[in-house]
Amino acid sequence: MSEQPTAGEAALAAPTTAREWLQCGTCARRYPLDEVRYTCDCGGLLAVERAAIALDRASVEARRLSRAPADQSGVWRFREAVLDVAREALVTHPEGATRLYERGGLLFKHEGENPTGSFKDRGMTVAITQAVRLGARAVACASTGNTSASLAAYAAQAGIPGIVFVPAGKVASGKLAQTLAYGARCLQVRGDFDAAMRLVREACDKLGIYLVNSINPFRIEGQKTIVWELLQDLDWQPPDWIVVPAGNLGNTSAFGKALREAKAAGWIDKLPRLAAVQARGANPFFRSFAEGFANRHRVAAETVASAIRIGDPVSHDRAVAAIRDTNGVVTEVSDEELMAAKRTIDGMGIGCEPASATTLAGVERLRREGTIAPRDRVVCVLTGHLLKDPEAAWRPEGLVEIEPTVAAVEAALGH
Ligand code: F0G
Repeated sequence: MSEQPTAGEAALAAPTTAREWLQCGTCARRYPLDEVRYTCDCGGLLAVERAAIALDRASVEARRLSRAPADQSGVWRFREAVLDVAREALVTHPEGATRLYERGGLLFKHEGENPTGSFKDRGMTVAITQAVRLGARAVACASTGNTSASLAAYAAQAGIPGIVFVPAGKVASGKLAQTLAYGARCLQVRGDFDAAMRLVREACDKLGIYLVNSINPFRIEGQKTIVWELLQDLDWQPPDWIVVPAGNLGNTSAFGKALREAKAAGWIDKLPRLAAVQARGANPFFRSFAEGFANRHRVAAETVASAIRIGDPVSHDRAVAAIRDTNGVVTEVSDEELMAAKRTIDGMGIGCEPASATTLAGVERLRREGTIAPRDRVVCVLTGHLLKDPEAAWRPEGLVEIEPTVAAVEAALGH
């Protein structure tokens, strides 16, 4: 027998002195943080793990008053629990620090208020910071629009080439314009999002490009802060429910990890329940939930909510853990229900894109079914901005063309 450890043993041993490491969610095998990989040799998804979170609520509160970019960022305000990296090395806009609105008895955390118009910036600041540390020569993602724009903005800031893979003809034009304006290369794949996702994984492996979809564990670390920030917004009094749209299941996974860690760190003493909401035409996770997660489903996805038109979500396994650990639920809503909910949210003067409105539609459904009680405190996470899908927001009845006369104004207003 050789005295030399095998490569596998070395990988298990190496990170034990490190403060952070990558760990498989399926078999618990560890890898060093600076290894470029997204899945374990067993096929399980990797997560960033650390020995313990050395951060208390008082420090987080103090940072909220500071002007330093790392403190102003709603992500890096939690840096000890996100990524151990020098402040000078952060690629931050800053992002996060979004508002929590109370309307109609519900709370809405508006992640559309992030720099590029969606929650994706929270994960992207961490993934691109890590890309720079790894010396990545280019970064890439598959996207239904928001991830592209976010990648493009952060890659531009870092000075790394960005490449996005989008389903041809299926992405809102404003998001494409934003992606191109920031200088990314845009490959329009003839196929759906799931085909673009498979292609980008293969292409990144073959060409040595760093993949920053939510399969990337550093994205998840950033997205955890949506939950931590909303808990902070609520003075650390957890709500009964956190409701989130579910597509590729990165957020659902991140929320589960955030809640487990917040409890372990002593920031909260009870866990809110997660409710993940899918569009009926893109509901593989709901189907799986309905069978007690006995099977994983894949569907050909079709819904008006382009952001969550996803039939084969990559983060399925860790999202299952998130729902189980929080005694959560998964539900589905029709396109009619989510568009009606969007009109309600727009009409509150907040506004969001169609995918985000699944939250309110989901709450309505879960209340009807008696799962959410009338007095439960509920936070809906609005993931994207109203202007992503202007066509979906269009209300022609509000638009009248007139001659430039006061008489015409009077006539138009019915005076
Ligand atoms: N809401 C919005 C606005 C999104 O853009 C996305 C995903 C989701 C919800 C679903 O989140 O994947 O974590 O379950 N958009 C990706 C993109 C696919 O490319 O922008 P998830």
